[in-house]
Amino acid sequence: MQLQIKKRNGLKGEITIPADKSISHRAVMFSSLAKGIVTIENFSHGADCLSTLEIIKALGVSAEFKDKKTLIINSKNGFTAPKKDLYCGNSGTTMRLMSGILAGQSFDSVLTGDRSLSSRPMGRVVEPLTLMGANIEGKAGGQEGKLTAPLCIYGKQLHGIDYIYTLSSAQVKSCVLLAGLHASGKTSFTESYLSRNHTERMLEYLGAIIEAKTQRGNDAKQNKDENYASLHPGIFASKTTIECSQLQARTITIPGDISSAAFFIVAGLIIPNSEIILKNVGLNPTRTGILDIVRNMGADIEILDKKMVSNEEVGDIKIKSSSLNACTIEGEIIPRLIDELPIIAVLATQAEGKTFIKDAQDLRNKESDRIKAIVCELKKLGANIEETEDGFIVEGKCTLKGGVEVETYHDHRLAMSLYVAGLICENPISINGFEWANISFPEFEALFEKL
Ligand code: S3P
Repeated sequence: MQLQIKKRNGLKGEITIPADKSISHRAVMFSSLAKGIVTIENFSHGADCLSTLEIIKALGVSAEFKDKKTLIINSKNGFTAPKKDLYCGNSGTTMRLMSGILAGQSFDSVLTGDRSLSSRPMGRVVEPLTLMGANIEGKAGGQEGKLTAPLCIYGKQLHGIDYIYTLSSAQVKSCVLLAGLHASGKTSFTESYLSRNHTERMLEYLGAIIEAKTQRGNDAKQNKDENYASLHPGIFASKTTIECSQLQARTITIPGDISSAAFFIVAGLIIPNSEIILKNVGLNPTRTGILDIVRNMGADIEILDKKMVSNEEVGDIKIKSSSLNACTIEGEIIPRLIDELPIIAVLATQAEGKTFIKDAQDLRNKESDRIKAIVCELKKLGANIEETEDGFIVEGKCTLKGGVEVETYHDHRLAMSLYVAGLICENPISINGFEWANISFPEFEALFEKL
């Protein structure tokens, strides 16, 4: 689908940001491991989360919508062996987290994905799972010698490990901890910078024995923190089903997605005469890197009505158009805004000076090579942006001429970032493949039209 976008002035009003994708995935997966009926309030309607939901159903769990956003999950007797391959669509979170859940089951399963997902690296989860005793076969020889999907998982009894990951990844961490639920003994995961901790928080909320802390690393010379999470299993395996003794059935209310809010935050800051309020946004500090960065750049932004909901911080965000200065984004903050980097590239075109993004090489392994893709498409619009190995450099403030067609690379965050760029272009732009926005945010266009 091709979408035309025209320049806009003065975004005004109040909108509610739809449910967080990361938390929606986890809510469905973890409730299917809990004993009893779980109500999930405000579930995401993005295609990725619906992929997770379909997989849970294929594993014999009952999942029904009570109304548009309220989902009732009842795992009755736990999982049963699937009758077909489990299709994860475009969703890396589904494939990587489900591989952790499935590796220790008493049946075999196969995880498949679309073309983009089938080219993404899966060695990062297969490696720790294998150390735990899992038996998983993938497709060898992808780019960078990567192991990719389909993943054939032969269910095995697992044992706990202490895994040290030199990078940071919430998907790898969650996969290992979820496998730990079905393993004998304790499992721990250590990463250098703290990635999103929704798994740790939700497992704790549902009664698992989990400890998470940031501590000084063993190598005193390096003077670096280590982020450590450990889990004691409470799951007992029988021959045909898995019974969960510890995850309790509790209502889970999902906050709005700060990664979706990011498009409105940036639009509100760079479109003159704007003043908007975004209601119900998740404000977990492992996700709020974008707020720290825009404040640093000089943004007029305020948090209102902050509270805790299902062990996650939630609040409203008020944004006004602002004059911005460039900044450098690197190190510890990268995992806290990894999904926001394409829209931050758009923001940086409107900031005075050179913005540097460093330490973000894993952006090349997302739904597209997001470094190459955003640099190429923003250049077409007239931005002064250059690719580096681990990020990009943007020089602003610069007028985006537009008047051209741009591509989305089958990537939802590219589609929505280019939409926002189109709102400040001198001439209308056409976005090819805008339907990819539905992967995380089907309400995106309608919400922009409300402002
Ligand atoms: C996610 C973790 C991040 C993020 C992805 C969702 C999650 O990936 O980019 O969109 O829900 O755990 P990595 O763990 O690969 O950094």
